Amino acid sequence: MTRIQIINGPNLNLLGKREPTVYGNQTFEAYLVGLKAQYGEVEIDYFQSNSEGALIDKIHEVGFIYSGIILNAGAYTHTSIAIADAIRSITVPVLEVHISNVFKRESYRHHSYLSDACKGCIIGFGMDSYRMAVDAILHF
Ligand code: DQA
Repeated sequence: MTRIQIINGPNLNLLGKREPTVYGNQTFEAYLVGLKAQYGEVEIDYFQSNSEGALIDKIHEVGFIYSGIILNAGAYTHTSIAIADAIRSITVPVLEVHISNVFKRESYRHHSYLSDACKGCIIGFGMDSYRMAVDAILHF
């Protein structure tokens, strides 16, 4: 069975409440119900943490056994060499995902420490970015 781990980083627990003009009105939990229904044949597991170390621990935990990891590291994308190293340390392909188009936003969001460690990036399609990442994992 295909097993996909979605990992969301800091402040993404507040989706639905947080800056709705940027991130929309839906909670991630509500979005996930629909995503799982669309891909009934795939095991989709979800983890969120506001802590860098917990995100790294989860990457290590699933990083040799799952089919793919979908990672939205939130603001750690723009700061974390440690998460980039974690991605390089595992064998499972990681897809970097962002809800907003970070390139249309502040310049400090234009650089990602993670992109060149990842298999690919899906950026700016709202919550649908996650669905596109699932599709990508199923097709490569
Ligand atoms: C984000 C973009 C990041 O710049 C920001 O810090 C987030 C969310 C996105 O999904 O658009 O927390 O990763």
